[in-house]
Amino acid sequence: MMCRFPRRLSYSALVFCVIVGSFLYWGIHVHLFNLYFVSEAEFMDTYTFSDGFNNVTGVDRFIVPNIIHFIRFKNFDLTFVEYVVVIAAMRNHRPDKFYFHTDIKDAKCEGKYWEWVKKDQELWSRIQVKYLEMPTEIFGQKLNEGWGLFHGSDIARLRIIKKYGGIYLDNDCFVIQSLDKYRKFECAVNWDEDQFLGNQVIIASKNARILPLWLNTYKEYHSDEWYYNGGERPTVEILHRRPELIHRVKGDFGVDTGVSVSIYKNPIMDWRRLDIIHLLSGHRSYLDPNYNTTPVFDENNIRTYPYAFGEMAREVLDMPHP
Ligand SMILES: *[C@@H]1O[C@H](CO)[C@@H](O)[C@H](O)[C@H]1NC(C)=O
Repeated sequence: MMCRFPRRLSYSALVFCVIVGSFLYWGIHVHLFNLYFVSEAEFMDTYTFSDGFNNVTGVDRFIVPNIIHFIRFKNFDLTFVEYVVVIAAMRNHRPDKFYFHTDIKDAKCEGKYWEWVKKDQELWSRIQVKYLEMPTEIFGQKLNEGWGLFHGSDIARLRIIKKYGGIYLDNDCFVIQSLDKYRKFECAVNWDEDQFLGNQVIIASKNARILPLWLNTYKEYHSDEWYYNGGERPTVEILHRRPELIHRVKGDFGVDTGVSVSIYKNPIMDWRRLDIIHLLSGHRSYLDPNYNTTPVFDENNIRTYPYAFGEMAREVLDMPHP
């Protein structure tokens, strides 16, 4: 009788200790797991910028999430060239996620080139489709009827980056090199000498100070001018006064029309020195002197296409060069 009681007690104590111990272990484990795997993203979300931020060196770690954003208003089909653009971004940059923002309800990834995307498990597992209403007005001003798609996308890209942070790319921006080096800046934008900034590529933290200022420039919206709000006004109203708000990229995002049109003219263009090149897909009919020979690219005619774009596309598709 005398020894039974303590023995039972020690047995209960053991059970108690095991239970408490496993809770502790679980707690520490979960805690460490969070510290290790979640903190980077949380850090990115909470990073705030102030006057001292160095726009030349950036910081020594990533502050922009590794998400590539595309906007697909009114049309969710994937053309051959758009497929090539997605493959190039995957192979040459490797984002964690691709977000396709579209105003098409229940958008389906259908058609030949979406099927090709689905077959690539590494790529397909990274793709997310997000519904996004197309803007039709800004600060009470109606967007231009004919250009609404383009002006709407100019506005939407800023809102998307302000919401998520990441890498915004036009649907015809071919990625050549990893963009990680730009993920250490508040906001990286191409702004060539004596030109307006290029909004085809925006790499920024969601907290980048320029984003609300940029959106505010739409208080004066010029619906009849193609690039007034897209590039001219933010350059003149913001960058001329506060150039330190961006990491200025000169040339390397390949948005200069004179440079990027060479991919359709020059068989030996040195395109590898750029990080991205804008393919000018919507403007080829009047910019590309050889347009009529190959008005629409596909997986057959690209095999022998003689100018730089042929080499670029074949390289990411693992096709032999002729
Ligand atoms: C950094 O900001 C300064 C203004 O403070 C500007 O003149 C310069 O062009 C910027 N440099 C880069 C690489 O963006």
